[in-house]
Amino acid sequence: MAKLSIQGGHPLAGQVRVSGRKNSAVAVIPAALLADGPTRLDNIPHIGDVAAYVAILRAMGARVEEEAGGGLLIEAERLDARAVPYDRMTQMRASYYLLGVLLAREGEAEVPLPGGCDIGPRPIDQHIKGLRALGAEVDISHGIVRARALSRRLRGARIYLDVTSVGATINLMLAACRAEGTTVIENAAKEPHVVDLATLLNAMGGHVVGAGTDAIRIHGTQTLRGVEHAIIADEIEAATWLLAAATSGGDVTVQGVIPRHLEPIAAKLREAGMAVEEDGDAVRAASRGRLRAVSVKTLPYPGFPTDAQQPMTACLAAAEGNSVVTEGIFDGRFKHVEELKRMGARIRVEGRTAFIEGVPCLSGAPVQATDLRAGAALVVAALGAEGTTDVGGCEHVDRGYEDIEGKLRALGGQVRREG
Ligand code: EPU
Repeated sequence: MAKLSIQGGHPLAGQVRVSGRKNSAVAVIPAALLADGPTRLDNIPHIGDVAAYVAILRAMGARVEEEAGGGLLIEAERLDARAVPYDRMTQMRASYYLLGVLLAREGEAEVPLPGGCDIGPRPIDQHIKGLRALGAEVDISHGIVRARALSRRLRGARIYLDVTSVGATINLMLAACRAEGTTVIENAAKEPHVVDLATLLNAMGGHVVGAGTDAIRIHGTQTLRGVEHAIIADEIEAATWLLAAATSGGDVTVQGVIPRHLEPIAAKLREAGMAVEEDGDAVRAASRGRLRAVSVKTLPYPGFPTDAQQPMTACLAAAEGNSVVTEGIFDGRFKHVEELKRMGARIRVEGRTAFIEGVPCLSGAPVQATDLRAGAALVVAALGAEGTTDVGGCEHVDRGYEDIEGKLRALGGQVRREG
């Protein structure tokens, strides 16, 4: 098992180029299967979830070429929709997008129930409700979701999501873009990667209108063509660097981002006493002494993102005063708290709320990442802690962060990978 050994107390300083967004990459990679020709995706990060997706596509018979500089060329003349490898699929969440894609393309799909981070119950009832409305028969047994289009093509429908779900919104966009007629997804997710996917589908010749609002309208088209598309930057990776600047008392500029997407994080950091400025496609966060306590509640976009909640909690563990962090999306996203307590944090969790009594400084300890962002939180905490912290379970971190130790070292962090 690999671990990151981090010596705290070295302020991070300098510039870091942010990689392509994980949650865009895992949506556009399966979307490429909807095109009749080759599709070239750029700015795709080298992370575990992308590697898993590439392996899945190859196992199904798609041609996937990895180009230098983060390009992926994907072409799938024929696909064996039943050859989806069970173990790879259950390793990650976004494997559920193959349901929408295969139904749209092949009229049938057999996909294991998805895996992904253990952050509380993660049902897929809204995906299934939507696919049924589009004219698919869906059955779940023995851990496999089996879906079949009742007529040759899916047919457009009006779908109201009972909960705003990023995954269901994207899956239904994928399924609907080659359906017959018009689909309307109401109470849709507004996250920037939903918009990124819509941009790709429209470039392919699809008709997606309203992505980024809570009502997305998709006029189905029979064929889509292969195109080139570069995905947007990962605002959660960017947020992680800004939060690491905060814990380590540093001064970090993230480059290649869309500052608007970072505003919920920038606003909280300003409230906590950091100097945060945007300049073109860069955002700089500079420390001005010890952070002050703030209250945070995670919400769907444009609220404070749940994916940044865990590293934010790590920051507030050593802020001056008492902070309250409320998780508005997932039931079990506080598993990092027990590990932060090993480092001297004083945090009490009640249901979906963490009450944090800031301590002057955390102390290095052996800790374990239980999921991707828990790992990021422990890294952020370790950079500001006294002494050395060994963060075990870094395979979770590698699922979503490209070359984390290389980027940290370039900013002056004292980090070593072992094992
Ligand atoms: N939900 C339902 N039924 C559904 C789908 C979702 O009740 O059919 C509930 C969930 O239980 C949750 C809420 O709706 O309470 C939101 O879940 P959502 O579907 O939006 O999340 P997801 O699609 O499973 C994606 C990201 C997560 C990110 C969330 C929220 C991917 C692959 N994953 O998950 O990313 O936290 O949206 O923004 O895009 C991460 O990157 O660390 C990560 C976990």
